[in-house]
Formats: sequence, C-alpha cells, structure tokens
Amino acid sequence: MASLDRFRVSGGAHLRGEVSVTGAKNSVLKLMAASLLATGKTTIANVPEIADVEIMSDLLTRLGCTVVHVKDSVTIDVPAMPGHRADYDLVRKMRASINVLGPLVARIGKAEVALPGGDAIGSRGLDFHIKGLETLGANAHIEHGYVIAQAPTGLVGAIVSLDFPSVGATENIMTAAVLAKGVTTIDNAAREPDIVDLGEFLISMGAQIQGLGTPLITITGVAKLNPTNHVTIPDRIITGTWAFAAAMTQGDITIHGARAQDLELPLEKLASAGAIVTTTADGVRVRMDSRPQAIDVATLPYPGFPTDLLPMVIALNAIAVGHSLVTENVFESRFMFVNELIRLGAQISVDGHHASIDGIPELSGAPVEATDIRAGAGLILAALVSEGETTIDQAFHVDRGYPNFAEQLVSLGAKVSRE
Ligand code: UD1
Repeated sequence: MASLDRFRVSGGAHLRGEVSVTGAKNSVLKLMAASLLATGKTTIANVPEIADVEIMSDLLTRLGCTVVHVKDSVTIDVPAMPGHRADYDLVRKMRASINVLGPLVARIGKAEVALPGGDAIGSRGLDFHIKGLETLGANAHIEHGYVIAQAPTGLVGAIVSLDFPSVGATENIMTAAVLAKGVTTIDNAAREPDIVDLGEFLISMGAQIQGLGTPLITITGVAKLNPTNHVTIPDRIITGTWAFAAAMTQGDITIHGARAQDLELPLEKLASAGAIVTTTADGVRVRMDSRPQAIDVATLPYPGFPTDLLPMVIALNAIAVGHSLVTENVFESRFMFVNELIRLGAQISVDGHHASIDGIPELSGAPVEATDIRAGAGLILAALVSEGETTIDQAFHVDRGYPNFAEQLVSLGAKVSRE
C-alpha cells in the first residue's frame, strides 16, 4: 500500500454514462472468513479487486488455507485443522479480520485474534463480540493485545441480546452459533444486506438459520458444515456513491448490477434533493438537471441511512441549495473528514454528532487528505464540484473499497488522474 499515492481531480464535469458495480466488500470479507467453518473447497464469486480481499486472503493462507483467485472468484481450500492465530501485522490493516473469531472458536475450539484497534471513524469496541461468545459458553478475554477465546468442549446455544445491532458482532455470533449444540437466538441483531448474504451462505453450507433480515435471528446448531459455492451481493455503498456522484455533478449515471432495494432510503433522499431515480432491468439510473436541494439525514443501522454514505451526503449538502442538518448515530468520529471539506470552502459547523451545513454553489479546489475509505470517496465527489484542481492524498484508503475508481470516473467524463 503506497501511502504516497494521490488522486488529482479537476472539477466541473457532469458525469454521464454507465458503470458496473462489483461484489460488496463488507460481504465478501465475511464470506471468506466463514469459509473456515467447513473443510474443503469453498468458491465465492463476484469478488471485487480490492486491497482488503488480498489481506483476507493472506490471513486465511496464514491459517493454513490455500487461496486461489481466478478472474472475479476466489476458491478457499480449508484444511481439516486450520491454525487459530490471526497476528497483529495483518489484523491492523483491516478490521474485518476479526470475523475469523466466530468460525475458529466454533470449528476448532480456540482462536487468538489481534485487537484491530480504533481507526479514523471511531473507537469501535469488541465487547459485544466477546460477550456474545461468552454467552455461547466460550471463555473469552483480552490479553496482550489479543482476543483469546476458548471452547474446548464446544459451544452451546443461548439467547444473545445485543445492546446495539452491531454488524460485526451479529456476524461473529452467527458464525459461532451455526456449529453450537442447540438453539441460539440473537436479539436486536443487525439487519444489513451483508448479514442476509452471510446467513444465506451459511445456509448453503448446511446451517439452520431463521429470521435473517429481522432483529431476531434463530440458529439451530448442526454438527458439521460443508463447503459451498456462493455469489456475493452487489456493493450497496459503491452504488450509493455513484448515485450521489450523479446527483452532485448534475449528471446521468446508469449503475449496472446494483440492487436498488438495498438502498431505499438513500435513493429516496436523492429524489427529495431533486434527482430522477429510476430502477432499470439490472440496476438503477440517477440523473439530475439542477443544483441539488439540501437534505436532512440521520444515519442509523439498516434499514436506516447508512453511515458509510455520510461523507457523500455531507459533500452533496455542501453544494446544495439551502441549509441542512446531518446527524451521525453510529460512529463517533465520522466527522473528522469535515475539516478536509472545509479546506475546499464548505460551510459546515459540527456540534457533537450533528453537522450543520450551508450550501454554496461551488467549492474551491485545494490539497486534502483521505482519512478513511468513505471519507476519501466523499472528498473525490467534492473535488468533482470544486472550481480548479484538488489533490486527495492517502489514496490507498479509497483503493480498499472502490476497485478502479479513477478509471471509472474518467469513463464518465471526469478529469481524474492518479499519481
Ligand atoms: C461494519 C462495516 C462498516 C459500517 C458498519 C455500520 C465492515 C467491514 N464494516 O462495521 O463499513 O460502517 O458496519 O454499518 O463490514 N460497537 C461496540 N461494541 C462492539 C461492536 C460494535 O460498541 O462490540 C459499536 C461500534 O463502536 C459502533 C457501532 O457499535 O459505534 C456499530 O458498529 P458495527 O455495526 O459493529 O460496525 P462494524 O461491524 O465494525
């Protein structure tokens, strides 16, 4: 990962044309980790070409798996006895590494996974993951920077109530409970499409799961799971990013391979900003003929407005007609990137988890820095509606979530280069 890479963007283009959306990052990484639940070859298709998939491949390889990529699929051959330790040097690069915890405890009765630590969007605890595994009978604690979980005689089904519908905790508990003895219910479970995708993947391995997509998931443990083949769902955050790009640049983008049903609220919000949103045979088309109207948004767990689209909504409001209030309810530090937007001339003030934004007709290009994946994408959208040139440093953040982003932007008429 070259931290010196940067994007250079000249503002002013109306983005027009067609793009295709690849598989969801936040789904595929969990599917790859869950392949550990069965000995043998699991194949996952619609895998995006992003750095995080490479990191998860390295992690699985270190656990004894053989990982082979062919075009957009990945085959993971899992040994009868995988390793149990996920080291800090890999885990620190990608928080989703924590998703090997549930499968390893369930499968081999022990796991040691380095603590991923916080990142630029907030502190991101693991207490729900640990408490959940303990409720299923594991002995789990943190020692020397590692989560250490042991269940030498296996896990036992139980009622797990989450204080907050955490995506990662729901995933780790679900992937542990599938091999536990008896029935587990996860109360206040996350309902994200990624959870449904993972649940369907597990069902195709032989797991018994009910209630996916609802706050109450019931899992009846089975003795053994089998390897499977699965196609990853399309990335709803990339879809949303293109939809916001079309609306902000007064453009017209048809997004192929997207599922509009995973983005109901963001697309409704864009319509209320003045965009014309239509679903097509295999995706969604968003066009905009005038400056957007400001929109008030509060992020919430799915089906609420996704926190991962918060930078895009703030960037849109920065150049919209009128005043808006944007509230972040999931990660406490998501507003860090607002300082970068202010460097582009945006009129934003932040108070706690609220951002108050006065739209202006155009931003003004300047050097800025991506602080995380989504902030980086939001800054690129802002640069597209900035007069003159903007450079966005720390481009590797964007590469973690957006395959070939610069090339796709160029194909839509944007002036973007990578240096
Ligand atoms: C996932 C996504 C991320 C998305 C987020 C919310 C991946 C790789 N990442 O992150 O892109 O923004 O869902 O949709 O899929 N929390 C605790 N204790 C815990 C677990 C979570 O306090 O044990 C808190 C977090 O600090 C955060 C909130 O719960 O404030 C939501 O986190 P969670 O849903 O777990 O997000 P992730 O799974 O980390």
